[in-house]
Amino acid sequence: MHMHRLEKIWLGIGVSMLAVFLLVLGIMTFGQGIAPPNEHVHHIDPTKVSETAPFDKPQLTKIGDNEYEAVMVAYAFGYDPAEPMEVPAGATVHFKVTSSDVVHGFEIPGTNVNIMVTPGEMSQITHTFDKPGEYLILCNEYCGIAHEMMKTTLVVK
Ligand code: CUA
Repeated sequence: MHMHRLEKIWLGIGVSMLAVFLLVLGIMTFGQGIAPPNEHVHHIDPTKVSETAPFDKPQLTKIGDNEYEAVMVAYAFGYDPAEPMEVPAGATVHFKVTSSDVVHGFEIPGTNVNIMVTPGEMSQITHTFDKPGEYLILCNEYCGIAHEMMKTTLVVK
């Protein structure tokens, strides 16, 4: 009777370990399966942002009929380009943003633009600015001592 019980315990341990092993394997496989497919395509060496196209030339470019591309670099503590960017009312702007140091935010209050900017990746968001005005672009991820100062402006005329 004693031996029988011990065997049950050992069997139980064996089954538990197998279950844990399968769970870990499953998590690893699942994790790989759900990784964004473009993560590697957009991999950028954060230390080489200033040499990596298109971020070697952060700028606003007209790419179509009232359509613009804003290539920007977030850093502690600001954004490149630093000067206010200007677009006409009704412009659709495709933002492409990366970070050259730590995680930053990229939020334009009053719009649906609110993304996280992670070093090594290109974050993208598109917005159409129908109403003229001065739009603040600000960092909403705590990134250091001057986090509150990290902002720039988009002017919609
Ligand atoms: Cu960048 Cu807070």
